[in-house]
Amino acid sequence: MASINIQNLVKKYGDGFPAVNNVSIDIADGEFMILVGPSGCGKSTLLRMIVGLEDITSGELTIGERRVNDLAPRDRNLAMVFQNYALYPHLTVYENIAFPLRLAKLDNAEVDRLVRDASSTLELDEHLERKPGNLSGGQRQRVAMGRAIVRQADAFLFDEPLSNLDAKLRGQMRTEIARLQKRLGITTVYVTHDQTEAMTLGDRVAVLKRGLLQQLATPRELYDNPGNLFVAGFIGSPPMNFLPAEVTGNKVKLPFGEVEIPAEKAARAEGRGLLIAGIRPEAFEDAKLAESKGVATGTATFSANVDVVEWLGNETYAYIPFEAPPEVTKQLAQLEKELDSEALRTQLVVSLDGSSRITAGTEAEIWVDSAKMHLFDPATGENLTVDNEHAGHIPREAATV
Ligand SMILES: Nc1ncnc2c1ncn2[C@@H]1O[C@H](COP(=O)(O)OP(=O)(O)OP(=O)(O)O)[C@@H](O)[C@H]1O
Ligand SMILES: [Mg+2]
Repeated sequence: MASINIQNLVKKYGDGFPAVNNVSIDIADGEFMILVGPSGCGKSTLLRMIVGLEDITSGELTIGERRVNDLAPRDRNLAMVFQNYALYPHLTVYENIAFPLRLAKLDNAEVDRLVRDASSTLELDEHLERKPGNLSGGQRQRVAMGRAIVRQADAFLFDEPLSNLDAKLRGQMRTEIARLQKRLGITTVYVTHDQTEAMTLGDRVAVLKRGLLQQLATPRELYDNPGNLFVAGFIGSPPMNFLPAEVTGNKVKLPFGEVEIPAEKAARAEGRGLLIAGIRPEAFEDAKLAESKGVATGTATFSANVDVVEWLGNETYAYIPFEAPPEVTKQLAQLEKELDSEALRTQLVVSLDGSSRITAGTEAEIWVDSAKMHLFDPATGENLTVDNEHAGHIPREAATV
């Protein structure tokens, strides 16, 4: 096992395009690190540089104490689990797992010991004599992991290993990978474009956009303290709401009215003209319920026209359209393109308690936990109100672009 240190890594392909642009990530021994971002952001390229399948244009890559920039993949002692598991259909599960050991010409007794060890960890004992074609997707995934385990590699590298499984199996496998990683305590780097996988699996998550590291932090830090609009919009489902905002004193003017925010937040955003406020759906509540729960403060309630209500039993989504000036809609349209997401319409999505009686087509009193509001600079996307103590690492070049 080993730590992996990525220092100022750059990858320029033939056409000079920096697919990975000056990325630094320190991965601790035993850590589960996620690389996440939309398609084309450079996740696979970065992973392939770590494993040695792609040359490093510049920067330093250290595994344990060794600089490995110029080492061949087989000398780096890493195990890569690909998206398509590359199992040999004509070999049994046993021989598929044993494959790297046969290549290394280990004697039969040693092969047997290692394969049986791995198969019991992976609960594959009863399938050892079967062929991969007769296994479920999840079982095949485990065989692929078995092959990685027997190699006693220093780290596991995964490139979107669950992307061709159906939603239910993906959920199960996600839990299995998390459990197995904890049990083996092996350093793991895992590429995904799925923010749910990133949030649930990672000890820490590196968010990438167009080759640039945006933020390197724990899932909770990313969720509570996104460093910029991009991270804020990428992490969380349903996504964070973005609204035009202007700060005067302790008050934020939103399309629906004014709410008060904590003084130290206000101070960082005051006098900066038009801003973008970011508020997660669950920071809102039906004002009546908020009052009865005793959380409401009079200074953070507004009334708004609700046009659609979706009651899910445990919670209620209410949709509230609003008007935004062109500076804000332009930035949001750009963000939506970068996030590869469906249109972020200029509507507020609020998640209310399931017991709320708010109905569509009426004016409703909504309370907002305004301490949870973020304020972003519309020009650079930077979160002006980020709590740097609880935001992990935000590289300086992240926000602007
Ligand atoms: N062999 C190559 N030659 C030239 N450019 C490449 C090559 N491979 C990747 N790229 C470019 O590098 C950038 C990053 O690609 P990469 O495959 O790392 O993205 P990714 O984040 O893994 O995306 P996805 O989620 O679609 O797999 C892209 O803009 C891509 O076009
Ligand atoms: Mg990829």
